[in-house]
Amino acid sequence: MAVRKLMFGNVEAERLAEEYGTPLYVYEEDVIRQRFREVKEAISYPKLRMYYACKANQNPAVMRILMEEGAGIDAVSLQEVMLALKVGFKAEDILFTGNNISKEEMEELIKLDIMINIDSLHQLESYGSLNPGSDISVRINPDVGLGHHNHVITGGPDSKFGIYFDKAEEIKKIAAKHNLMIKGIHMHVGSRFLDQEPFIKAMGVLLDIAKDFNDLEFIDFGGGLGVPYSPDEGPIDVKKFGRDVSEIFNRFCSEYGKQLVMCFENGRYYVAEAGHLLARVTSVKETPKHRFVGVDSGFNHLIRPAMYGSYHEILNASDLDAEKEKVVVAGNLCESGDIFTIKDEQPLPREIARLEPGNIVSIEMAGAYGYCMSSNYNMRLRPAEVLEGKNVKLIRKRETFDDLLRGIPDA
Ligand code: LLP
Repeated sequence: MAVRKLMFGNVEAERLAEEYGTPLYVYEEDVIRQRFREVKEAISYPKLRMYYACKANQNPAVMRILMEEGAGIDAVSLQEVMLALKVGFKAEDILFTGNNISKEEMEELIKLDIMINIDSLHQLESYGSLNPGSDISVRINPDVGLGHHNHVITGGPDSKFGIYFDKAEEIKKIAAKHNLMIKGIHMHVGSRFLDQEPFIKAMGVLLDIAKDFNDLEFIDFGGGLGVPYSPDEGPIDVKKFGRDVSEIFNRFCSEYGKQLVMCFENGRYYVAEAGHLLARVTSVKETPKHRFVGVDSGFNHLIRPAMYGSYHEILNASDLDAEKEKVVVAGNLCESGDIFTIKDEQPLPREIARLEPGNIVSIEMAGAYGYCMSSNYNMRLRPAEVLEGKNVKLIRKRETFDDLLRGIPDA
């Protein structure tokens, strides 16, 4: 019987690994488009603005796909804004939600005419003095947070983000002093919810606060829409989510007396599933406890398992149906935590189709917070990236040794 191999469209993963080398990020264009459309179609509220939180994946080719689908950009640094402009997004399609930004960054954003979600009362003061008489938006911390790990919970008293929900009067005072018009309010309470309830609760708090502001044009509910990573997680019901938020927002707008723009800024949902990190098995070894399968990548390329203990499915792309075997998949970095099958900071063996040196593994759900969180730890090079669409296209070259030396005077 023929060996079943992992395919992207009609291309074998192994062939891409041969052609472009490993490690390699592969993104499927179709999946990005489908995920975006799924959310858009689920929300019936007519004045909808969907931003893409490009921090999840900043490859310009990925951003361009979402631009074609009608997304705006949620940016969190001046450089993300500059990239979005370069890709072709207009200034009015970019929303900036930075945290603890410098005065210089704020000045640049003002020059570029970018709408900012102001993150603290102090930053509201600074913004007011730099750009009096302008339109702004404020990020509110609604006192509720959610997320898959403490590091990604961005609401509630432990979070550094936003202006606490009970500070509406102070916001208005500072805005009045500088003649600022508050056109938008914003929240982002955390990343990756699979149960919509905490999100809906936060939405309610934000809408309560919104009633206090009379000149609003938009309300931005942030991102966080989750995708399942492990087999014991189920997908979120996006249709129900879309129905519920549309209904809640409709009701709010009729009370408010104006049909406002409803905004979301998801990142992960659109790109996570589309991305795969291909790596080659370089060595296999046994200890009294584990069978270690070593690959030519590591947490320098996908940090989520090491950083959050996140589960990522690992497939034997060379032989999907090989007999399963319990293994620990490890990277090639000089650090014990460089493990792709890890939980609570310990290697956690997992059943994977038997891997032999030379085989290609595909680490799944790697399209979000993968490449963009990569590093040159151990002086290893960042992978190349390819996009599988009508055909396969190289969308970022593999780094070279010379790239690593750039800017070092004596190197
Ligand atoms: N808006 C703001 C202001 C954000 O800070 C974030 C994510 C998003 C939108 C998009 O959230 P998403 O829809 O992607 O959940 N590195 C972590 C995730 C960090 C998320 C940071 N902020 C991870 O790999 O899980």
